[in-house]
Amino acid sequence: MRILGIETSCDETAVCVLEAQGDVSTAQFTILGNALYSQIAVHKEYGGVFPALAKREHAKNLVPLLGQALIATGGLLQLIPLGPENPSEKTIEFLQTLADKKTQLQTLLKREIGLFDDFWKFINEYERPAIDIITVTIGPGLEPALWVGVNFAKALAIAWNLPVYPINHLEGHVLSPLIEAHQLQKIAFPALSLIISGGHTELVLIKDWLDYEVIGRTKDDAVGEAFDKVARMLDLPYPGGPEISKLAEQFDLQTKKEIKEKYNVVFPRPMINSQDFDFSFSGLKTSVLYFIKKQKEANVEITPEFKSVIAQEFQDAVTDVLVSKTKKAFEQYDVKNLILGGGVTANTHIRQAFEKMILQSPHIHLIIPPTTISTDNAIMIAVAGYFNFLLGRQAHANFNATGNLSL
Ligand code: KG4
Ligand code: ZN
Repeated sequence: MRILGIETSCDETAVCVLEAQGDVSTAQFTILGNALYSQIAVHKEYGGVFPALAKREHAKNLVPLLGQALIATGGLLQLIPLGPENPSEKTIEFLQTLADKKTQLQTLLKREIGLFDDFWKFINEYERPAIDIITVTIGPGLEPALWVGVNFAKALAIAWNLPVYPINHLEGHVLSPLIEAHQLQKIAFPALSLIISGGHTELVLIKDWLDYEVIGRTKDDAVGEAFDKVARMLDLPYPGGPEISKLAEQFDLQTKKEIKEKYNVVFPRPMINSQDFDFSFSGLKTSVLYFIKKQKEANVEITPEFKSVIAQEFQDAVTDVLVSKTKKAFEQYDVKNLILGGGVTANTHIRQAFEKMILQSPHIHLIIPPTTISTDNAIMIAVAGYFNFLLGRQAHANFNATGNLSL
């Protein structure tokens, strides 16, 4: 089966074509075409994602990315022009039906500037590619951004007469590591997923296929958001996560140890001992802010080495909380697998801390996906869509974008 995936929940516009076969325990995937446009450069000057801009960029890029994803299939799903000369009966019929749907499609896409024109041109220009189902993120995320993908998917489904599956973005993060056959073979329930990204920090208990219980989540900032905000305090560019991580590794260890001791650079580990599985990173972020302010007031120069100490201690504090809470959760629920997901899993220090922690629990299989899957993309949506299809969820077109959708 060939699946079209569409993702527009935040600042990545992504479209993919995924080939999938097999049942839930033997599923095999081949990425036929994958196109992704990151809006980071557009949002950089705002120091974070600006929803109205994200919406505009999605609308501008979806059709070109659809074309790219199809072209990337290397001729498998050719973009065959609907030739104007001697069109076949099939083509004539397709174009006639399309013309009948024009008003409906126009209404659907009217809120997204320029999208209908691009869409209409594309859809009238090429034959319907050999796609079987469409999958699209419906939430959680930035609602104006989500709507662009949702309406685009609905429009394609109408024009090409295809079923469409609404997909929860978090389910994409949870299930996408199973694109690797060796990981799928080891999957057993209950499993636990820790999703750490710019928008989410959630501990999800997976009781069975598509059966989730969110057992913990952040009460305020998401982990990635805290990284981004602390990075800004240290005058680092957006997105701050990779910058903090890089800075924390730099400079002479002895010099940094001396700075740490002299200025007592110690930040709190919020909620590390709480009885629940929730998180809070806002207080930690504020501690960093006050600490920097205090140094400035005392005329202490925050040298690059000093910044590196702050970055490292912040990163250590976050890691300690994540590891400790996750360990407590998998012990309590006796889980068999631990799946990490989300952009923050790109953090080497955090990855290593989990790898080290799992050594003490050899009965638990740890899955940390490569960053190509863990950051937002369309493949994760198509993979989740395939499992939805296999497990009998019904495709339907009656769905909305839902910014605060939970699992
Ligand atoms: O999953 P993702 O690509 O998008 C969201 O759904 O938010 O995650 C982006 C987040 C950003 O906050 C970014 O700063 C953070 O992931 N991030 C990192 C690292 N690489 C990306 N955080 C810490 N260390 C990293 N190496
Ligand atoms: Zn995400």
